[in-house]
Amino acid sequence: MAFLTSPRRALREVFPYQPGKSIASVQRELGLKNVVKLASNENPLGSAPKALAAYRKAEKSCALYPEGASPELRAALARFHKLEPESVIVGNGSDEIIRLLCEAFVEPEDEVVVSQHAFIRFKQQSVMMGARVIEVPMTDWTHDLALMAQAASSRTKLVFVANPNNPTGTYNTQDEVSALLAAVPKTALVVLDEAYFQYAQAVPGYPKSLPELVREHENLVVLRTFSKAYGLAGLRVGYGVGDPELVGWLDRIRMPFNVSLPAQLACVSALKDAAFVRRSVALNEKERAAVGRALGEMGFGVGESTTNFVFARSPVPGRELFKALVRQGVIVRPLDEYGLPHHVRISVGTAAQNKTLIQALARILAVPA
Ligand SMILES: Cc1ncc(COP(=O)(O)O)c(C=O)c1O
Repeated sequence: MAFLTSPRRALREVFPYQPGKSIASVQRELGLKNVVKLASNENPLGSAPKALAAYRKAEKSCALYPEGASPELRAALARFHKLEPESVIVGNGSDEIIRLLCEAFVEPEDEVVVSQHAFIRFKQQSVMMGARVIEVPMTDWTHDLALMAQAASSRTKLVFVANPNNPTGTYNTQDEVSALLAAVPKTALVVLDEAYFQYAQAVPGYPKSLPELVREHENLVVLRTFSKAYGLAGLRVGYGVGDPELVGWLDRIRMPFNVSLPAQLACVSALKDAAFVRRSVALNEKERAAVGRALGEMGFGVGESTTNFVFARSPVPGRELFKALVRQGVIVRPLDEYGLPHHVRISVGTAAQNKTLIQALARILAVPA
């Protein structure tokens, strides 16, 4: 029987997101026992211990539905950022907030401005709503916010800025972000996605978005996540912070119980685990420098990164390198879907994981480790 119901026209342009290859799939396919995944920018130290303790306690309440609006987590985040709870929306990963923003604000033919090698979910989600996506070239692998401001018009609904950006690892300064906010029409919402905030916050000129910039600009929404520095990617919790009216629109259209009860409770406690975040950031700085040096010596072109991953031009095509590494039990991320077939993105692991990576690369490229 033929399937005759036509999906929305916009969906013809939509391709599913390709997540990093999983450890389980490599174990299944190649029969390998030890597999190192450096493909999804997860925390190699695991999860914040305080979050895990709260998660375990939550098992007593799993028979009950969670509170839909995550009120305790919302209140905890509001205190954490010195804003009111009405300014915060919690999502099933910050990815859900990206989706809600597009669903709430983008009509077919509205414009969305992104930069050329920005985090791909911005474009995918906008296309899903039938938007015209304007892709602005980068300068030195960094979002060119001045050019993005020029591209924004009265037809623009959203301007997406991942800061720092995935996959290029680069960041924009407070001055650049402020200039963008001053230049775009007030009808365009600027989305500042700070998924890697904890790794970047100490770099010179990094924006003070929460609470300062959000208080000053009604057309700014800031996204953060528990997936990276807090080590809770599997729980799927992220959040958006912005004007209460904007948050109200997102709240109206989110799934009724979008964040599970254990996830809500774990994240309230994660916010108290500053020590774990500090440890994660310190390990990342040390290891990112070491991986960068080793890659450089093996002929990679390594970019500056203010994240927990390294963006590098590979001496061999990225997909070939990816495949060869998988055979050695190491998963990295090729970047063909970003239009970067010669680049790879490699998450920073523990010292032992990074050593496994470097040794595998040395074998593949026939160079000393
Ligand atoms: C820039 C950026 N934004 C958002 C996300 C989504 O994170 P999550 O949905 O896990 O909060 C990611 C994940 O890699 C990312 O790199």
